[in-house]
Amino acid sequence: MPTTGTGPGPITPDGSPVDFYSRLSPGGEPELVAQVTPPGGSVLELGAGVGRVTHPLVELGFAVVAVDESPEMIARVRGARTVLARVQDLRLDERFDTVMLASQLVNTTDERSRHALLAACARHVDRHGAVLIQWMPAEAHDRWHVGMGRTDGDVSISMAAVEEVSPGVFDATMRYTYGDAQVWTQSFSSKRLTDGDLAAALEAEGLRLDRFLTEDRTWVVAVPA
Ligand SMILES: C[S@@+](CC[C@H](N)C(=O)[O-])C[C@H]1O[C@@H](n2cnc3c(N)ncnc32)[C@H](O)[C@@H]1O
Repeated sequence: MPTTGTGPGPITPDGSPVDFYSRLSPGGEPELVAQVTPPGGSVLELGAGVGRVTHPLVELGFAVVAVDESPEMIARVRGARTVLARVQDLRLDERFDTVMLASQLVNTTDERSRHALLAACARHVDRHGAVLIQWMPAEAHDRWHVGMGRTDGDVSISMAAVEEVSPGVFDATMRYTYGDAQVWTQSFSSKRLTDGDLAAALEAEGLRLDRFLTEDRTWVVAVPA
């Protein structure tokens, strides 16, 4: 995912601007984790970034292991065990109450990668645990348009471009504006998966789509089948 910008700062292999992620607020993710994890339970956070969600999880008393492929991102995580690794290659000799795969990584356009990501979730979740996945549902792709966006603290995020480049494959560019008019753009591709596509991908790795956790259906709970 190519990223361009006017400001300094490291960029991850997937094109995420590290300084930008340090500015975002935690959001509602910690409460979602708390809904599916026993008090004080273990959480494996895949693609944890700078610890935006890790830090409040630690404060809530969860034992968190944070995984990211970016050394610059993971270096900013505090209070949790950190692992520098590609999720697809992760092989920890332990299982967790909750495995979290956020940031719509599951919507990758590379099907093999999607299966490898979900396989990593499956081999690290406890038999009675939960896999918490943030995805982009099919209907959300249908609503994408240039100009849509949101504000988070002093950061404005808007969609600068979006195109369905082949059936079900979207190329999009987000523009982040923050601080003293610093602007970053990040391009990414997203596969429009139906509920059935997601359920089948989970099933192939021994997981079952259990329920949607939020009204907008962007957070999914899967369990070992
Ligand atoms: C968009 S950032 C979000 C970080 C964090 N989940 C949050 O919500 O603040 C995505 C993170 O996932 C990491 N990432 C993306 N693909 C990955 C992979 N295959 N393996 C490990 N880390 C990955 C990136 O390095 C980046 O830190």
